[in-house]
Amino acid sequence: FLSIKDLTPTELKTLINNATTHKKALQSQTAASAHQSWPLSTSLSGRTIPLLFSKRSTRTRISTEGAIVAMGGHPMFLGKEDIQLGVNESLYDTSVVISSMTAGIVARVNTHQDIAELAANSSVPVMNGLCDTFHPMQIIADFTCLSQRLECEAGDLAGMKIAWVGDANNVLFDMCIGAGKLGVEMAVATPSGYQIPEHIKAMVQETAGTKLRETSVPEEAVRDADVIVTDTWISMGQEAESQKRLRAFEGYQITEKMAERGGAKKDWKFMHCLPRHKEEVDDEVFYGPRSLVFPEAQNRLWSAIATLEAFVVNKGVIKKTDA
Ligand code: CP
Ligand code: NVA
Repeated sequence: FLSIKDLTPTELKTLINNATTHKKALQSQTAASAHQSWPLSTSLSGRTIPLLFSKRSTRTRISTEGAIVAMGGHPMFLGKEDIQLGVNESLYDTSVVISSMTAGIVARVNTHQDIAELAANSSVPVMNGLCDTFHPMQIIADFTCLSQRLECEAGDLAGMKIAWVGDANNVLFDMCIGAGKLGVEMAVATPSGYQIPEHIKAMVQETAGTKLRETSVPEEAVRDADVIVTDTWISMGQEAESQKRLRAFEGYQITEKMAERGGAKKDWKFMHCLPRHKEEVDDEVFYGPRSLVFPEAQNRLWSAIATLEAFVVNKGVIKKTDA
């Protein structure tokens, strides 16, 4: 599972709805008794899932480790100092060896090429915990959060309008694909020089038929938006460009005033995958009543469970959960 593009629209909707089903099942009674009666509680028992992380993480690590533990499995976290991931050993060798002893792999790597190579040579499912081009488990969580907010099924998100203001990055690319598959409209505002690359646009169009509205004016993107989304302007690996990027993105901060000038819907909501920095969104919005950022982050756990259920427990068969 390397990108949302790997899913059909029905599979995407199923994963989103399953995430909410697991949340309800595990939060319905006291945590302990809910867990005992939850059918997935031993679904990974006796199985090891390594988490190969070449970059830092709070949410992805905690949600996937927590999900594996909840499902009775053993998460084995391996940071970049722990194993030879593409440094002193080829990705091919690493992938063949690791997959010969485990039930699935969650990996956070630098380039998409790295995760593609891991997956191509692995005998067990590989789930992308972020690469420079995609972040699929985040997007499952984001749409799960929105469907919970609207108390609707994933299929009912169609017609919603999302505005992305900021950098064109891994989170945006998978969000555009997901939006297309769900019938959600996307408008994107990026500064000149930081637009979505042509090959990504072609891929989004080809895999999801997404109708993107693009502009360099934040106010134009947020017109009629139900949800305004952003992410850091400096993704992991871009630290050397920090000063240049901070200058290029000036004027792109999400604020109440900007949304009002642009004519976002009256009750627009704010989302951000986190970690957040003040330059991309001010405190008033980030900590205010419009912000969904903390339920969004918490939904990473349910999205990880839905992903592991589909790809590891059910071996890639994505169906409505029995839980
Ligand atoms: N949103 C997200 O993936 O956060 P982490 O980098 O902390 O995992
Ligand atoms: N775009 C960010 C997302 C972090 C979860 C990054 O790649 O660093």
